[in-house]
Amino acid sequence: MAESTISVDGKEFKTPVLSGSTGPDVIDIRKLYGQTGVFTYDPGFTSTASCESGLTYIDGDAGVLLHRGYPIDQLAEKSSFMEVAYLLLNGELPSSDEYQKFTKTITRHTMVHEQLATFFRGFRRDAHPMAIMCGVVGALSAFYPDSTNINDPVERTISMHRLIAKMPTLAAMAYKYSIGQPFLFPDNSLSYTGNFLRMTFGVPAEDYVVDPVIESAMDKIFILHADHEQNASTSTVRLAGSSGANPFACVAAGIATLWGPAHGGANEAALNMLREIGTPDRIPEFIARAKNKDDPFRLMGFGHRVYKNFDPRAKVLSVAATEVLDKLGISDPVLDTARELEQFALKDDYFIERKLYPNVDFYSGVILSAIGFPTSMFTALFALARTVGWVAQWNEMIADPEQKIGRPRQLYTGPTQRDYVALENR
Ligand code: SDX
Repeated sequence: MAESTISVDGKEFKTPVLSGSTGPDVIDIRKLYGQTGVFTYDPGFTSTASCESGLTYIDGDAGVLLHRGYPIDQLAEKSSFMEVAYLLLNGELPSSDEYQKFTKTITRHTMVHEQLATFFRGFRRDAHPMAIMCGVVGALSAFYPDSTNINDPVERTISMHRLIAKMPTLAAMAYKYSIGQPFLFPDNSLSYTGNFLRMTFGVPAEDYVVDPVIESAMDKIFILHADHEQNASTSTVRLAGSSGANPFACVAAGIATLWGPAHGGANEAALNMLREIGTPDRIPEFIARAKNKDDPFRLMGFGHRVYKNFDPRAKVLSVAATEVLDKLGISDPVLDTARELEQFALKDDYFIERKLYPNVDFYSGVILSAIGFPTSMFTALFALARTVGWVAQWNEMIADPEQKIGRPRQLYTGPTQRDYVALENR
C-alpha cells in the first residue's frame, strides 16, 4: 500500500495512501492525532474527503458528473428521475420488472397523513416554502415510528421510499397553501413527475392534463438535481445520520442547509438577480459589483467548489432552457440576459482566473419560471429532487460497518484558562 510521510516537530509519521476506483487518492489520517498530537486544519473541507462513497463521482477540472458510473448528460437525455432514483439507491439500472415494482412502491407512498395538512395551517400564507418544508418534513418522523429503526435495512428502505414519494406531495401542498388553493390528493395513474405537476397546478374544479413537454422538462430537472457527492446539504444529512437520528430528521436538516443562497438557494437568487439586471446593458454594472471585494454581491448561479470547468448540469440546462421555452412558445428576456451575462463573465479575467463558470443554478430558474413556478418554489424543487441523493447517501453511510458519529475538532484561539472574577471586583 502506498504511504505518505508527515513530519511533525522533526519526527516522521507514515500514513497510508488509499486509492479509489478513480479520482484523487486520499491520505488516511485517522490515526494522525493519536500518533502526533496534532489535528489537520481544513475549514470548508476544501481538501478533505469525509467518507468513502460509490454513488456519485465528480471530476471538477474535466466537468464530469457520474451517477454509479453513468454520465449525467446520458442520464438526463435517456433516463427518467425514477430510474435514476433506483440507480442511486441500488447501484444498477433497473430491469423492466424492477422498474415497474419500484415505481409502483413509490406511487403507493405518495399520500401523507391527513394530520400533516393541519401543520400547514400554522404558517402564514406568505411563508417561504422552504420554511414549510423544513417543518413538515421533520414532522414526518412523528408519523412513521414504524420505519425509524436505522439498524433495520427493511425499515431504512421503507423510510427512503416514503421520503422520495412524499416530497412532491408536500412541495405541492406548500405551493397550494401559498396561493390559497386546496390541496390535491396524489393520482396513482400518473407518473411521479406528472403526479407532482397535477398536485401543483391542477384544481379540484376541473381535470388536469399533464403536458408532456413540461413533464419531460421537469423530470430532466429532477434528474440533474438528484445527487452531487458530498455537497453541504448531503454532508449535513450524513452528519445528522451519524448520530443515529431518524432519516426524516436528517432530510429536514439537509433541507435547511440547502436553503442557503451559497447552495441550493442560489437558483432562486440567480433568477432574482437576472430579473434585477433586467437588460443586457446593465450587465457591466453587476459584473463590477461581483468583482468588488467591498461588495458582498456575488454572481448567483456562478462558481463552484468542485467544478473549475463547466458544470455539466448547466450545459444540459442551457440547451433545455431554449428547447422548453421554444416548445412552450414563451420568450423570456431573462434568458437572453442570462446568455449575455454568461458570455460577458467568461471573457472577463476575474472569472477566467478563478475558473468561475455557470453552475446548475444559473439556468434552472428560467425553465422553472416558464413552467409556472414562482421563484420562492425553486429551492423546494431542488430539495424534492435531492431527497433521492440525501437518502441514498444516508443509507450508504448507515450500512457502512466503519461508520461512526462525525465529531470534528478545532484550532482553538480563545482565552486560555483563567479564574472567575467576582462581580464586585470587575
Ligand atoms: C450548489 O457543492 C455542490 O456540489 C453544490 C451543488 C449541488 O449540486 O449540491 O452543486 C449546488 O450549491 C451550486 C452553487 C450555488 N451557489 C451559487 O451560485 C452562489 C454563488 N457562488 C459562490 O458563492 C461560490 O462560487 C460557491 C459558494 C459556489 C463556491 O465557493 P468557494 O468554492 O468557497 O469559492 P470561494 O468563495 O473561495 O471563491 C473563490 C474566489 C473568491 O475570490 P478571491 O478571494 O480569490 O479573490 O472566487 C470568487 C470569490 O470571491 N467567487 C465569486 C463567485 N464565486 C466565487 N466572485 C463572484 N461571483 C461568484 N459567484
